[in-house]
Amino acid sequence: MRRVKFILAAGVVAALGNVALADPPKARSPYDGVEIKVLTDRTSDGLMQPLFEMLEQDTGIEVDPVFLDEGLVARLESRPTEADVVITKDAELIELAKRKGLLAKLDSPIIEKTIPAEFRDKDGEYFVDAYRARGIIVSQDRVKPGAVKTYEDLAKPEWKGKVCTRSGKHDYNIAIFDQMMKAWGDDKAKQVIAGIGRNLARAPEGDDREQAKAIMEGVCDVGLLNSYYYPKMFEHRSQIKWGEATRYVFPNQDTDGVFIMRSAVALTKATANRGAARMFAEYMASGQTQRMIVQRTKQYSVLPDVPPHESMVSMGAQQGIKDGRPKINFVSLEGMADKRDEAVKFVEEIKYDNGPG
Ligand SMILES: [Fe+2]
Repeated sequence: MRRVKFILAAGVVAALGNVALADPPKARSPYDGVEIKVLTDRTSDGLMQPLFEMLEQDTGIEVDPVFLDEGLVARLESRPTEADVVITKDAELIELAKRKGLLAKLDSPIIEKTIPAEFRDKDGEYFVDAYRARGIIVSQDRVKPGAVKTYEDLAKPEWKGKVCTRSGKHDYNIAIFDQMMKAWGDDKAKQVIAGIGRNLARAPEGDDREQAKAIMEGVCDVGLLNSYYYPKMFEHRSQIKWGEATRYVFPNQDTDGVFIMRSAVALTKATANRGAARMFAEYMASGQTQRMIVQRTKQYSVLPDVPPHESMVSMGAQQGIKDGRPKINFVSLEGMADKRDEAVKFVEEIKYDNGPG
């Protein structure tokens, strides 16, 4: 018994000694050591892992990520407590999550101050961290410069049998179809969407870049492609020739502007780590992270003073776009989401995915 006491006492002395000798580790933020769960449909490579590592170094916040390809809203709905933060490559989904009551207010003066109003939810439940253009690719050899300048051009009879796109029901296409409906009105939008459908060279297949491949193979002459995929093709040996066979066009620059795809960040209603989750969201809005997003994803920053990626600048320069930022036809995420179901219904109605005839 006596010996046990002695050991305990020695233990206490040793513990006190340690405290006295070593400096207590400095907390990197009020949330140092807190673990948050991040649910995202962005890919793990490229941006997210390096971003999580940088966050941990700077703030001590550790991220336990859940990556998934599809079904972001359904996952959040069925397992609401398994995420503190949601990050999506398709901000329309976050607007849908908001409508289902799955998000919390960001309550962040920092985000309100740094992120321009058009990229913030009006109720403060999410913000857009970056965007890319959904533009057009044309055959380098078979399409003369200036022959295709607008989305409307893709619906003209002269391109019959010459258009390639991925599935009309893919989120990327629904996102521009519903923006067309909101921006142009149903009549014009439906004419253009149906016209593109009528002009398809084949039943939609593959992803965006595979439309460039089809142009290289002579299957078609024009297609739709998100802006960052164009330079990405030149980073893969097998895809360089797809890129070389095509030219990028930011459409509607002389008229109402290009439609964009947005990525976004939100806190979940169920989060038990609101402070740390908010700090992570603020970290996404910082200049340092924004520059990293531009470098690694080639998206445009929502901060006006963070310049576009050099590849976007040179693609734009070919069309006379001055500062690398194309003119945008800005449709709010609410406006898009309002038209989403109608866009999906219309694509089914015209049997877009069946292809020609
Ligand atoms: Fe993508």
